[in-house]
Amino acid sequence: MITVIGSINMDLVCETNNLPKHGETVLGGRFETVPGGKGANQAVAAARLGSSITMIGAVGHDSFGSVLKQKLEDEKVDTSYIECVSTNTGIANIIVYNGDNQIIVVPGANFQVTPSMVGKHRELISQSAMVIMQLEIPPQTVEYILELCRELHVPVILNPAPAENFQIEWMDKITYLTPNETEVTEIFGTSPEQAVRQYPNQLIVTLGESGAMYFDGRDIIKVDGYPVVPVDTTGAGDTFNGAFAHAITEGKSIKEAVRFANIAGSLSVEKFGAQGGMPTEAEVVARMKGAAL
Ligand code: RIB
Ligand code: NA
Repeated sequence: MITVIGSINMDLVCETNNLPKHGETVLGGRFETVPGGKGANQAVAAARLGSSITMIGAVGHDSFGSVLKQKLEDEKVDTSYIECVSTNTGIANIIVYNGDNQIIVVPGANFQVTPSMVGKHRELISQSAMVIMQLEIPPQTVEYILELCRELHVPVILNPAPAENFQIEWMDKITYLTPNETEVTEIFGTSPEQAVRQYPNQLIVTLGESGAMYFDGRDIIKVDGYPVVPVDTTGAGDTFNGAFAHAITEGKSIKEAVRFANIAGSLSVEKFGAQGGMPTEAEVVARMKGAAL
């Protein structure tokens, strides 16, 4: 069983062919409210692939909160550790433009995921094969969980997104850190190549459509992405993380897990919404067989 500790958001998504300039109004295309939040997305990605997933997090006492909890249940995520707190459910304002996106997150209830809330679930965490986190919950909570997982010998994947609250001292408590290219530079102040060399088999950098890379202690390993025409790249990184965790806990090597996660990510961007295109294991395997990698 994998435990995901992280954010649950309602994504308010506008598709547009024009981006407004400062002070300007433009007419957009489609608008949808769809489930999101990096925590929930990673939970759903791994659950669809067949992992058994429990999520620790918080929503508000509002309609978004109850819809989002229900959606997670529909995806077979165990929601019994998700609390309802007295503030708004987290939201993300997302602009989809040319298949790419810009996101503003308002954390709301996600910032009520405190160390004491998580500390009640020590037993659950100790039974987990893996814990997955991102940075849309308070950094003190992330730090607390890293300490707890070290004490309980539970491996942790930290997806440092958004990167602004990442602390470099956390590195020795993290099993896998999975930034994208922008985040790796923000965190380490160097190129992805230089950064991965410092953290063999620990730092996995996702490179969008170019795949992902890490250092195996001898060589830099670049695992190519699977080329697709994206409809919506929102949640591609989350799909990668959920799929990577699924593959690693199934016993795959880092290289195999990265390859599997790249393919899962490529499938996810072909549909609208963060969770829209997240594949099943059979879909990933089918593309892998056809993939000339
Ligand atoms: O990674 C994509 C996610 O980031 C969106 O679903 C949004 O909610 C934000 O958390
Ligand atoms: Na998608």
